Amino acid sequence: MNDFQTVTRRKSRKKIRNKSFSSSLQHSYAEENFNTDDLIRLVLAAAVDFRKSPYKQVIFNGLLKSLNVLHSKAIAEVICYGLGSFSKNRSSKYQLATLLTIKNQYNCNVLVYDPIFTENEIEVLKTLELNVITINEEGKRTITNNRPTLVFMPHCPSQLLNNFLYCNWGPQLKNCIIVCNRWSAIVDQNPLGFVEDTTNYILRLYPYVVDIELKNEFEFIETFIETSIHIFPGLDETPLSFWGNREEPGYPKESNQFITSSSA
Ligand SMILES: C[S@@+](CC[C@H](N)C(=O)[O-])C[C@H]1O[C@@H](n2cnc3c(N)ncnc32)[C@H](O)[C@@H]1O
Repeated sequence: MNDFQTVTRRKSRKKIRNKSFSSSLQHSYAEENFNTDDLIRLVLAAAVDFRKSPYKQVIFNGLLKSLNVLHSKAIAEVICYGLGSFSKNRSSKYQLATLLTIKNQYNCNVLVYDPIFTENEIEVLKTLELNVITINEEGKRTITNNRPTLVFMPHCPSQLLNNFLYCNWGPQLKNCIIVCNRWSAIVDQNPLGFVEDTTNYILRLYPYVVDIELKNEFEFIETFIETSIHIFPGLDETPLSFWGNREEPGYPKESNQFITSSSA
């Protein structure tokens, strides 16, 4: 496990709220009115770029290490929340290219959802044989199989991750490989009160997370900035009491970037 970095919480807590660091880095490309065929071509061209990039190997090495820990060679399913608008945002386009490459490599089912997908984008995703979730489940999807599930939440609001953990709260989380913003950054960059109130499942699981750092060598650095792979190999040793106190999380109405099912 020498290649792995177990997270430790830094002493200093910077007073930065759940700041939309990624939204400020989002690179828009002007043409928003691509037809479906054009958009498919753009996404497939991005997938070719991604496959040629050194970062592809960085991600796939990280996935391989994670699967080795899980004593598996296969990813059963991928769930992706918060991809964003890949017809307007370059990071989203390359994150979709990553998903397609993972799908191709592991021959697995891929589920995607973002409430901001346009009809055109949904059509493209379906044509690319991804399964588009039709309702805003706010990240509350229960994993039903005991095989590795990859959860891909690139630069997503913490509430989505927190909801996912809440929904799957128990030792079965050890089957999950979560690719998202580095947890140490989520915890360190939020004042304690904010984390405890709105992302408490992340905080509770934090001592058990193993962070597989992904050296960000991607050409468009903002696409994978602060992105890490997270696994939970030690969960079998947790006492039963650790999993008690499972209350449904609630969030303030003005929660940053998080779109609820009741939002207009
Ligand atoms: C900061 S953006 C990240 C977009 C893109 N992945 C990137 O890295 O630029 C956060 C994304 O989370 C999405 N989001 C917010 N609430 C969500 C929900 N309930 N389910 C899925 N995605 C959600 C937003 O629509 C937005 O696209």
